[in-house]
Amino acid sequence: MNNKYIEVKGGKSLEGKIKISGAKNSALVLMATSILAKGQINLFNVPQIRDVAIMSKILTSMGMYITSNEDKLEINIKSILHQPQEVFTNLFHSLRASFFCIGPILARLGSAKIPLPGGCSIGSRPIDEHISALEKLGVQFKFKNNYLIAEVINPKKRLIGTIIKFNCKSVGATKTLIMAACLAKGRTILKNSSQEPEIVDLANILNKMGAKVKGAGTECITIEGVESLGGCDYTVMPDRIEAGTYLIAAAMTRSKITFSSIEPKHLKEVINKLEMCGCKFEYSDKYLTIIPNQILNSVDITTLPYPGFPTDLQAPFMALMTTANGVSTIKETVFENRMHHVKELNKMGAQISLKDNTAKVVGVKKLKASSVIGFDLRGTAALAIAGLYANGKSIIQGLEHLERGYEDFALKLQQIGAEIRHKKQN
Ligand code: UD1
Repeated sequence: MNNKYIEVKGGKSLEGKIKISGAKNSALVLMATSILAKGQINLFNVPQIRDVAIMSKILTSMGMYITSNEDKLEINIKSILHQPQEVFTNLFHSLRASFFCIGPILARLGSAKIPLPGGCSIGSRPIDEHISALEKLGVQFKFKNNYLIAEVINPKKRLIGTIIKFNCKSVGATKTLIMAACLAKGRTILKNSSQEPEIVDLANILNKMGAKVKGAGTECITIEGVESLGGCDYTVMPDRIEAGTYLIAAAMTRSKITFSSIEPKHLKEVINKLEMCGCKFEYSDKYLTIIPNQILNSVDITTLPYPGFPTDLQAPFMALMTTANGVSTIKETVFENRMHHVKELNKMGAQISLKDNTAKVVGVKKLKASSVIGFDLRGTAALAIAGLYANGKSIIQGLEHLERGYEDFALKLQQIGAEIRHKKQN
C-alpha cells in the first residue's frame, strides 16, 4: 500500500466554479497517434496526470521526443522509431492504455514486440478483440514471457484492409483498429464499433493528420488507408468522466456548482439520471450549472457502453445513492469486478448489499467519517465524494489511483470550498 492518502473534512456545502480538464481516455490515445505521424503532433488541453506521464515515457522508449509545457505536449520522432526497450516493461504493465501503441506500431513498422498491458484491477480485461481483429488485417501473433510478438504477414509488411465485426463493444479495440487501418492498403470497415466520444476525438485528429476515417461515433466506421500521415495541432476534448465525477460531488454535497470547459452532450445519460434524482441544470454558452435539491431521490442505473450510463461513473453514482431517499439498484454490466467500493462505503455507514454485479443501495440520512481504502481510480473518487458528505474527518487511501486520472483533484474541490488534502504518511 502506498503511503499517500486523501484527508477530507466533510459535511460542508460547496460553492463556485470548476474548470474541466482535457480527457484522460482521449489524451492517452491521441498521444499514441504520434507513432503514425511523419511530422510533429502538438496536443493542447492535455491533463497533467500520472497516466499521461507514463504514456510519455512509453513513447520516449520508442524513439519519440516529447516536450511539455503546462497543458501542451509536443511529440515528434527524434531519430528512428523502434520497438519499446525492455527496460520499460514495467511501464506497460502499469498502464492499460499502453496497448494503444500496438496498432500504430504494426502499421508503421510491420512488427511489434510489446509487454502485455496493465491498468485498474476492475476485471480480467482481455485483449482478444484487439488480437482477432488485427489478425484479420493480416497480423500473426505469438505470446512469449509476458510479451506479445506480432508480425504483419504481407511481404511488403503492410496491413490489408478488410471487413471486421467486433464480437463485443470494446473502446480499446475500436481505437486500436482505427489507428492500424489508417495506413493499411485499401478499405477497412469496422462493425459493432464502440461509439464513445473519445473515438470521435481520435478520428478527428487522424483526419487532421491526413487519414480518411468516416462514421466515428456510430457502430460502423470506414477507414480508407493512406500512404502516410503528417503532424498537426489538436485540442483534446473535455473529460466527461471528470465532469461527471464533480457533478456527482456537487449533488452529494447539495451544492450549486458551475462548470466551464464541459461538453453537456457527452453527459446526457448522467444528466438525465441526476435530473431524476432531483437536480436542476442551467445551460449557457460556456457553462453548465447544477442546482441539486436538498433531498434527492433514489434512481436505478445500469452501466452500458456509450451512450448508456458510463461504467466509470458507477462508483461515484453509488456514493451519491447512499444518501438518497429510497432504494436504488445499481447494475454493473461492463466490467465483472468493479464493486470494491461497496465494502468501503458500508464502513462509512452506507447500506449496500451486493449480489453478483448488482448492488442494492438503501439510502441513509448520514454517513460517518471513516478510514477507507480506494482500490481503483473511480472507486477512490467515489470514497472521496462520500467523505465530502460525512461529518468529520475521513482518511482515504488510494491516492496513487486517483492521481492516475484526475488533474488537481483536491485543488479543484478546495477552490469550491471543500476541506480536502492530498497527504503523505511520515
Ligand atoms: C476504456 C476506458 C475505461 C472505460 C472502458 C469502458 C481507456 C484508457 N479506458 O477501457 O476507462 O471504463 O473503456 O468504457 O480509454 N473486452 C473483451 N475483449 C477485448 C477488449 C475488451 O472482452 O479484447 C471486454 C472487457 O473485459 C470489458 C469490456 O469488453 O468487459 C469493455 O472493455 P473496453 O471497452 O475495451 O475497455 P477499455 O478500452 O479497456
